[in-house]
Amino acid sequence: METVLGIIGGSGVYDHPGLKNAAWTAFDSPWGTPSDALNIGELEGQKVVFLPRHGRGHRLSPSGINYRANIDIMKRAGVTDIISISACGSFREDLPPGAFVLVDQFIDRTFAREKSFFGNGLVAHVSMAHPVASRLQDHAEEAAKAAGIKVVSRGGTYLCMEGPQFSSLAESNLYRQWGCDVIGMTNMPEAKLAREAEIPYATVAMVTDFDCWHPEHDNVEVTDILEVMHGNAANAVELVTHLARNFPRERGACSSGADTTLDTALITAPEA
Ligand code: ADE
Repeated sequence: METVLGIIGGSGVYDHPGLKNAAWTAFDSPWGTPSDALNIGELEGQKVVFLPRHGRGHRLSPSGINYRANIDIMKRAGVTDIISISACGSFREDLPPGAFVLVDQFIDRTFAREKSFFGNGLVAHVSMAHPVASRLQDHAEEAAKAAGIKVVSRGGTYLCMEGPQFSSLAESNLYRQWGCDVIGMTNMPEAKLAREAEIPYATVAMVTDFDCWHPEHDNVEVTDILEVMHGNAANAVELVTHLARNFPRERGACSSGADTTLDTALITAPEA
């Protein structure tokens, strides 16, 4: 199967400047209104579909994003693999602002979002044991190195909070005790829905702050995030460009089973 690389850009990443022959194309979804049109084009010879998660101009809050519609339109556009680019706070001293974390686990603490394409009538339970496709992490890691990004962590647990407020100190300390590495507000239920849609998914999380636990750093504020994101954005562009250049043009099998997950997930009996 020919690959179509889907990029979901988070805060500060609303387009990819190098896309060629690109056109913003609106898609309808039975799941409602997606964040924006898709910018469909080519990057380094690779077909790429770009979606700004919060919409151009950052109009949507994390709880206001229609994650189902977003994943649905990417599937309709033929996306075979998704790389999510996401700003995050760090729970680790050795992952300071500017570091990139190739997340491989999530803890979902969101509670006010539609989280499944399935429900009454058609019931399915997909595995989220390994939510990230290691094949995609390999490509992201290579691309980060080629882009010259200095601090790159392979692996990490991303705690997804509901927001929109940032965490209290007690919450921040709790998440650190849980062994979380980074925190953000958007990767869940996005990763779950990608799995249900059988689209392999991986996250490149860009650290913008130390949340509020670090005694020697100020508590996170949006102005800090934006400032670091301006620096990170150029790195993110470089990473995505290298990723597209070396991305396999044909999709191989996924060891995580992300591309065949529904083979074993449906429980509703077929109608006689
Ligand atoms: N996104 C960037 N920094 C964050 C933080 N500290 N908490 C939640 N989401 C974030």
